[in-house]
Amino acid sequence: MKLRGYVAANWKMNKTAEDARSFVEKSSKLLLNMEKAKVIFCPPFTALFDMDKSLQGKPWFLGAQNMHWEASGAFTGEVSSAMLKASGVQYVILGHSERRHQFGEQNDWINKKVLKALSSGLKPIFCVGETLDERQSGNMEEVLKTQISEGLQGTNDPSGMLIAYEPVWAIGTGQNANEEQIEEAHKLVSTFVCDSLGDIGKDIPVLYGGSVNSENAGSLFKAEGVDGFLVGGASLEPESFSEIIKEVETFIKE
Ligand code: PGA
Repeated sequence: MKLRGYVAANWKMNKTAEDARSFVEKSSKLLLNMEKAKVIFCPPFTALFDMDKSLQGKPWFLGAQNMHWEASGAFTGEVSSAMLKASGVQYVILGHSERRHQFGEQNDWINKKVLKALSSGLKPIFCVGETLDERQSGNMEEVLKTQISEGLQGTNDPSGMLIAYEPVWAIGTGQNANEEQIEEAHKLVSTFVCDSLGDIGKDIPVLYGGSVNSENAGSLFKAEGVDGFLVGGASLEPESFSEIIKEVETFIKE
């Protein structure tokens, strides 16, 4: 049994505000009385404001998928922490591998975002993970260490922060990391987080992400050091997403 379990839906560039609204409606029917897992919906920016309204009275949280570290200014296409907060957002995914690899985000940018999110009262879902090349060439440990030490630099109060270990090779591929690989990586992540933050790092939940679905969620959640999931593809349908939440709920202590 586990004391806590998070299930975050990363919808990426999917769903309009209307799609999001009907998703919440369907999910609330499927998940009656399920309140042990902490469920976080991360829709695209354009659905945040509406989704905040749909989530009123529900035991679920709202997250964004990115933000800029500056408060305002000439940053075409970006949004600030204050804008997210005004849309009802509590969590924000930072350093997702798609941002790192497709949009060139570097550790120092991600670090500025983490610090800004925390000082604005948003909870970062800070993502780390190695590519297949990095794993196969024996560099996984070094990559995770650098992403964590540079990404978390200067963090004094990580209250509410979540970390997601997402091996790049497992994201959207249908090939999830196995329990042994996850346990090994989560142990490394926790060690590096404590190296960076000291004792306050000990309690930060570490989620796994990468091809989590309703079939593997039960066994992956049992892996040591796994406090929940960041789910992409399988979070796009209310049925599969609800099944994952149910699997997690089964292992959370009353
Ligand atoms: P996936 O995505 O579940 O589709 O592999 C996970 C993620 O990118 O957060």
